[in-house]
Amino acid sequence: MIIDGKKTSEEIKNEIAARVAEIKIEGGKIPHLAAVLVGYDGASQTYVNAKVKSCEQVGFESTLIRLEDDVTEKELLKVVEDINQNPEIDGLIVQLPLPKHISVEKVTEMIKPEKDVDGFTPSNVGRLALNWPSYVSATPNGIMELLKRYNIETSGKNCVVIGRSHIVGSPMSILMARNTNPGNATVTLTHSRTQNLPEITRNADILIVAIGKPGFVTADMVKEGAVVIDVGIHRVEDTSKKSGFKLIGDVKFDEVSEKASAITPVPGGVGPMTIASLLSNTLLAAEKRIY
Ligand code: GUN
Repeated sequence: MIIDGKKTSEEIKNEIAARVAEIKIEGGKIPHLAAVLVGYDGASQTYVNAKVKSCEQVGFESTLIRLEDDVTEKELLKVVEDINQNPEIDGLIVQLPLPKHISVEKVTEMIKPEKDVDGFTPSNVGRLALNWPSYVSATPNGIMELLKRYNIETSGKNCVVIGRSHIVGSPMSILMARNTNPGNATVTLTHSRTQNLPEITRNADILIVAIGKPGFVTADMVKEGAVVIDVGIHRVEDTSKKSGFKLIGDVKFDEVSEKASAITPVPGGVGPMTIASLLSNTLLAAEKRIY
């Protein structure tokens, strides 16, 4: 089975658009997302443009704040603080990575937890670990939504996560171990220092790959019938394509899909779900359903 993130994300966006239509009738607050983009990193520009476009699609308001890559940390902190104080804006994201002269910790800590729809602040990460209501980082949140909507059983299963980033691997391991559905899995969080990785991954009923290396997971690392979730997205040259490139994941799709019972493709798997989750979080913020 192919787990279709594109289709599922469209369903979620339709649900959100329907809720926005109701809010309009009720005379409530139209959700408003502010995105801060520093500099000209190609991937970051693509992601932020996609986020802003998706806001339009579901009827949200959005504000894109572009800053030059030589902006000072103090200036950026002031921009964040102004958005914190602006009652018109419900959700705030600062696109990462930031230039080296800016402390990502300082900037993240400045974001008001109530508007932190990326779920990156210490307050939201702590609340996640405690299983309190919190904003959950968009990619892991999107994966949980896919598992839920595809009725994939996770309780009591062995879940192996590859990659321990703050944005994906680490929150993913917390969510899968929590006493929720999906969740209740026996989780192994692996990373670059893990020994005998193929031995561990072959034991996974659910394998979540967020290592950031193209084609890293091969068929011999996967158990027959496993559910495989591929978070990677890489542009590689392909002269047979008009564009000259194609997108591939962290998993060798052709060979692993022969063994897996369900798998997310790249593109069209986890990627579109990330944006749908950000929109869901922004709706939660406008409706003040977390804090
Ligand atoms: N950079 C890569 N992923 C993300 C994300 O989900 N949010 C933000 N703000 N920056 C990112």
